[in-house]
Amino acid sequence: MVKIAPSILSADFSQLGDEIKAAEEAGADLIHVDIMDGHFVPNLTIGPPVVKSIKKVTSLPLDVHLMIESPDRYIEAFAGAGADIITIHTEASTHLHRNVHYIKDNGVKAAVSLNPATSLSVLDFILSEVDMVLLMSVNPGFGGQEFIPLTLDKIRMLKDVIREKDYNVHIEVDGGININNAGDVIKAGADILVMGSAFFHADNYAEVIKAIKKHTR
Ligand code: DX5
Ligand code: ZN
Repeated sequence: MVKIAPSILSADFSQLGDEIKAAEEAGADLIHVDIMDGHFVPNLTIGPPVVKSIKKVTSLPLDVHLMIESPDRYIEAFAGAGADIITIHTEASTHLHRNVHYIKDNGVKAAVSLNPATSLSVLDFILSEVDMVLLMSVNPGFGGQEFIPLTLDKIRMLKDVIREKDYNVHIEVDGGININNAGDVIKAGADILVMGSAFFHADNYAEVIKAIKKHTR
């Protein structure tokens, strides 16, 4: 069954602990934490100290999405803060292979992310090494943007490669996912859906999760 990773970017940061507990109680599978540096993306968010605090209020895995330049400089800090999965962008990492293994050496699952216009071919010589691929379905930087439909073909193409090679690699999709389009994203081959605004701006978190988990492939 598909997993749901609410993105705290759209949560009420003045009540962050309660928001995360509510997401967990509603049936979320992971907590998605968006880290932005004001360089790779125009926005700024949080750093390792906040991740460390979040770790104390939930038993769910922390899915840390680094939208930062030279992510290698911070991998150890986020691993130490309690990240369970660290995702780095192929566009932001010069030595992707080295950085993926550096994440794993820190005892954390390693994932790579692709912006909407980045070709799947960048994965040719790294796919066998990662635990997850995060396909961006919006241009990263902000919550509440519209899902880019071209992503559906990209998900299908990546799923075919993973099946053909028989790799144990999960596909996570991030950006603009809501109750209406989740079914298509799941059918295309997504294993984990990130949801920011459509989750945290909803009145009833459990209802959102129920509606999404109805869809099967
Ligand atoms: C965007 C972030 C997303 C964002 C998704 O750069 O990576 O995780 O929080 O938010 P929604 O679901 O509102 O598009
Ligand atoms: Zn994200």
